[in-house]
Amino acid sequence: MDWFSDLDDSTSGFAATLTRWYEHHKRDLPWRHTRDPYSIWLSEVILQQTRVAQGRPYYERFLAAYPTVQSMAGADERDLLRLWQGLGYYSRARNMHKTAQYVAEQRDGRFPETYAGLLKLPGIGPYTAAAIASFAFKEKVAVVDGNVYRVLARIFGIDEDITTTGARKTFSELANRLIQASDNPATYNQAIMEFGAIQCTPVSPDCLICPFQQRCRAFLTGRQRMLPVKSKKTAVRERFFNYIVIRQGDRIALKERTGKDIWQHLYDFCLIETEEPMEAFRELPEGKVLNWVLQEGILRGLSDERTHILSHQKIRARFWLVEVPEDRKVELPDGLTFCKPSDTERLPKPILIADYLKSLPF
Ligand code: ADE
Repeated sequence: MDWFSDLDDSTSGFAATLTRWYEHHKRDLPWRHTRDPYSIWLSEVILQQTRVAQGRPYYERFLAAYPTVQSMAGADERDLLRLWQGLGYYSRARNMHKTAQYVAEQRDGRFPETYAGLLKLPGIGPYTAAAIASFAFKEKVAVVDGNVYRVLARIFGIDEDITTTGARKTFSELANRLIQASDNPATYNQAIMEFGAIQCTPVSPDCLICPFQQRCRAFLTGRQRMLPVKSKKTAVRERFFNYIVIRQGDRIALKERTGKDIWQHLYDFCLIETEEPMEAFRELPEGKVLNWVLQEGILRGLSDERTHILSHQKIRARFWLVEVPEDRKVELPDGLTFCKPSDTERLPKPILIADYLKSLPF
């Protein structure tokens, strides 16, 4: 039997098989014990580009710090970003804050209770709306994320390129037909994501003990590695960051990142970006900062290169540590401010910066 060509007769088989698998294999995860839309929303925002093992402690810390949407709405964005530190894609945290403010201020703290209503909220897209609507309000609407693309592409042998809008429609329609056969849409949606996360994994799916083995188009034709089809390979841009770390006593010069680049509203050091890796201080492009350092500071050392991988960029960073004598009164260049250790700790920083600071012997 082939589910895709004969969907009407066999959709219930898919949902039932999937749900049975889930009941045996599911992990016990904290967001699966709640129907509170705020907690569910928070978990989904965290998990969107993050693995469960990494995201779970963040979920727990966020709920402890901000137990309600009102408390998150009232938070200082800097504190939210600090708590988010290490999760990456920091615009998620800033958008999450804006959505929380909208819900708190415009909707008296209540999330809409339908998929259509949720979709109207700023910052909530089809995936998150489906997750909240099904998990909190039991609406029969299918989640479609990377796991779902992979599971459906393989089992039903769909070779449409998942980066296209046409494919999004195909997968979403199929997913929404499949969920109709389930009497528990929350369980069904958790199940298909869990199945993608631990059974039908990207690189080595566990086909030998898979309940869909006899019907999976990919398994039957040996195409597990070819499906789903994803055409656009994102180009990775290499960038060279030369950080000038100015220190006076136990204080470090930091500045907030403004502008359109990565890490908006996080804090880092004085940054000189170059087209090539720089080996010597003298090779750095001349300018205000370099003149300032030559006049006021003493070069104490240069770190090894540290690389930091982002989705579309590879940052190759080096840190030039510059000491300013304790008794010298100086005016910092470039919008920098000296921060004492407790402030440095409290400010949100890219992990590259936080790790470098940890490695500094004070
Ligand atoms: N990934 C995204 N949402 C998830 C969820 N609710 N449970 C497990 N993994 C997920």
